[in-house]
Amino acid sequence: MEQVVRFDNVTKRYGSSEIVTALEHVDLEIFSGERIAIMGPSGSGKSTMLNLVAGLDKPSDGEIYFEGRALSGMSDDEVTLLRRKKIGLIFQTFNLLPTLSAVENVSLPLRLDGMPQKTSIERASAMLEKVGLEHRGRHRPDELSGGERQRIAIARALVFEPAVLLADEPTGNLDSHSGGEVMDLLDRLHDAFGTTIMLVTHNLAAAEHCERRISILDGKITHE
Ligand SMILES: Nc1ncnc2c1ncn2[C@@H]1O[C@H](COP(=O)(O)OP(=O)(O)OP(=O)(O)O)[C@@H](O)[C@H]1O
Ligand SMILES: [Mg+2]
Repeated sequence: MEQVVRFDNVTKRYGSSEIVTALEHVDLEIFSGERIAIMGPSGSGKSTMLNLVAGLDKPSDGEIYFEGRALSGMSDDEVTLLRRKKIGLIFQTFNLLPTLSAVENVSLPLRLDGMPQKTSIERASAMLEKVGLEHRGRHRPDELSGGERQRIAIARALVFEPAVLLADEPTGNLDSHSGGEVMDLLDRLHDAFGTTIMLVTHNLAAAEHCERRISILDGKITHE
């Protein structure tokens, strides 16, 4: 199996006067197609892990590798492209643009990458169909339910068919029914595309969709 993500002795500290150690000597290898759930109390370093993989933040010590390449050796532009094309990000807050319709939100990463409008809308519509929302393409986020918005955010994260999906509490704002639907959707997308998934969750039912589960406490992986 191909290694997709590797944490090599990663430490992350925040702050200058009062230093918070968010991650401490973390070693972790994630292989292609794996689904790994990251569980742990608030403040334990879960979001920090995802931010480092996405290149949104940099380790204080150690190295993150993506498909064998050290992120520290990439330029800012290379990291931006990596994030756009190879990484899908889903946050607990959906981060949809309120003035754009659902299909426009999904097509946004393609437009930013220079794809012509017509082609990007076609690709985005096909993705909306995969998340079961083809009939909602013209609606704005405020005309959709929480679960529907989360599915739109997933469609947008997956429109490039990224190698890796980073999902931070994707079911956190949803009732158990909508949360179950989102997890079923992630299962189907994993089966269709072989996407590697890092899932941060407090929800055991969601974690059970992953074949690997790790616990993190005070910035350290305590068990797998
Ligand atoms: N930008 C920042 N500046 C200073 N400290 C930060 C920053 N971001 C995170 N921290 C601290 O780092 C630690 C880990 O934060 P992180 O966001 O990774 O936690 P988490 O496990 O995702 O928690 P939650 O479940 O509440 O989302 C926390 O103590 C937090 O206060
Ligand atoms: Mg968090």
